[in-house]
Formats: sequence, C-alpha cells, structure tokens
Amino acid sequence: PTALAGRHFLKELDFTGEEFRGLVELAAELKAAKKAGTETQTLRGRNIALIFEKTSTRTRCAFEVAAADQGARTTYLDPSGSQIGHKESVKDTARVLGRMFDAIEYRGDSQAKVEELAAHAGVPVYNGLTDDWHPTQMLADVLTMTEHSGKPLNEIAFAYLGDARFNMGNSYLVTGALLGMDVRIVAPKSYWPAQEVVDRAQELAGPSGARITLTEDLAGGVAGADFVATDVWVSMGEPKEVWDDRIGALAPYAVTMDVLRATGNPDVKFLHCLPAFHDLGTKVGREIFERHGLTSLEVTDEVFESAHSVVFDEAENRLHTIKAVLVATLA
Ligand code: CP
Ligand code: NVA
Repeated sequence: PTALAGRHFLKELDFTGEEFRGLVELAAELKAAKKAGTETQTLRGRNIALIFEKTSTRTRCAFEVAAADQGARTTYLDPSGSQIGHKESVKDTARVLGRMFDAIEYRGDSQAKVEELAAHAGVPVYNGLTDDWHPTQMLADVLTMTEHSGKPLNEIAFAYLGDARFNMGNSYLVTGALLGMDVRIVAPKSYWPAQEVVDRAQELAGPSGARITLTEDLAGGVAGADFVATDVWVSMGEPKEVWDDRIGALAPYAVTMDVLRATGNPDVKFLHCLPAFHDLGTKVGREIFERHGLTSLEVTDEVFESAHSVVFDEAENRLHTIKAVLVATLA
C-alpha cells in the first residue's frame, strides 16, 4: 500500500507539499506506462461511484477511463438519477454507497457536502469540483506545468487572471503556496480570493518558500510568468444575470496576445481548465457575445489556438492525475 492508502482527496489544504508532489510524480509514471503500453492494473474488482450534481466532460471521463485502465468499474449518478439531495440526506447516501463501493467521487456545489460524505462513507471520497476547490484539476495543472517548463516547481511563476473568488482561483493560490511556487492572482480587488484563503496561503508560503502576489496591476502581475491561466467568468450554478457585471469588471483581464507579450517571456504558456469561451462555438457563449458585441470572453481565440496554449495537454492530464489519486488511495 502507498502512503496515501485509504485517504480522501477533498482539498489541497489536506495534503503536504510532498504528498501532493508525490501524486503528480505517480501520475507522470502512470502516463508514461500507458503511452508505452506497459500499464499494470492495480484496481481489479474495485467499484467506484461517481456522483455529479453538476455537469462535466473532463472530470467524469477522466474518472471513468482511469478506472477502466486500472481494471475498476464505475457507476455514474447524474444530477437527477439518484435520491441525493432530493429524498435522501448526504449522510445516509454516504453510508449506503460506502457499503457498496470502494470509493466515491462527488461534484457539486458546497464543500461541506463532500466533507460530510467523507465523514460518513467509510471509504475514500474524492472532490470532483465544488464551489470552493477543484483539487484534481490542480494535479493536472501542476503536471502540465512541470512538463512544459522543465523547471522545478519552486522556480515556476504563474499568473491567474479573472474571477479568483471561486474554485479555480482558490485552488491555484493554495496549490502554488503549498508547492513553493511564484503565484500571482491578477484581478480587480473585489475578485480576489476570500481573506481566509489568502491567510492560509500565506501560512503555507513561509515553510514552502512560495512567493504570493495579489494585484490589480496586469502588466506587473504577469511580468516574467512562465504560465498565464484563466477560467470562465461565471461558474456553474451562478445565475445568468451576473454575466453583465462580470464582463464589465473582468474584460481588462481577458487573456490576449498583448497579455502574453507583457510577460516578456516568448515561451509563456497558456492554461485553462476548460470549458472556455474563446469563440462562438457554444450556445451560452453566442448569447452573451451578441449582447455585449464581443467575440470572446476570458481568452481570445487567437491565444487559445496559438502555440502558447497547452490546454489540451492539461485536459489529457486530468486522466493521468485522477488515475494517480485512485491508485494511491485504493491500490
Ligand atoms: N475542467 C473540468 O473540470 O472540466 P469538466 O467540467 O468538463 O469536468
Ligand atoms: N469555475 C468553473 C470551473 C469549471 C471546471 C466552474 O465552477 O464552473
């Protein structure tokens, strides 16, 4: 058994930097093995429940393919296809699923729910995204940064632009702090992570040697960055009405070619957890673009499709990193 056997994966703050790095290293090994055709199955006969109270493409598929690659089976519970939250409490659901499954993934709104599931399930519980944290995404982003920069984590600088009060902003800040990175949150002050999250990040930065910057200054914030990251300006579960205010406030922080040039780094790479509003390819996107006379939101199509963009490597890495979580906690 590994050092993380039986552990939950609920948020980055539950792990030491060494444990988190260990998961990323395991993911790199599993990725290499899969590519070489030498992957060995360590989860045969295991059953994993996947609860999705919000929609997903990457996270769901990563869990399903990772489990299948390792010989485990999954059961997908969609937002309407189970009793959770409607007829049955989280606590009761946890105790039922814990009797049938070896592990449970949960995606939904509140962090409290996934923590409650973990408290009562008796098996490892994984956070597949809540309003507060997206920890499996961070494993993929760190693996992607490692692969593309070739630098040790404590020499990597990255800037996150946009709405930093939600899962991605919180997770980037805390993960950068945990791993001793140079992490910059570049956004209007009212879009910075909650003070509580900033305080936790600053506590971690002491021992890890991380450099933490929160700034409204776009040019200063991105200068020298190895990676520029962003996320959608309106997250799942938020009302449509917030779009108008968000666009006004965040438009100056959209990732454009000028922003990439402002890093001064010709090799700067662009990250986005996806899905992204970079073109007219989606229904929601079209409605908003038309109302505001825009052709992209948080990132221009030019950046998204450029050689700077590593978003599909990042998406692929969801598979290898989620597999690492399964193998480390269950094998
Ligand atoms: N990045 C991410 O979590 O994507 P999905 O919402 O498609 O799972
Ligand atoms: N902040 C986004 C991330 C999607 C992966 C959301 O919560 O919708």
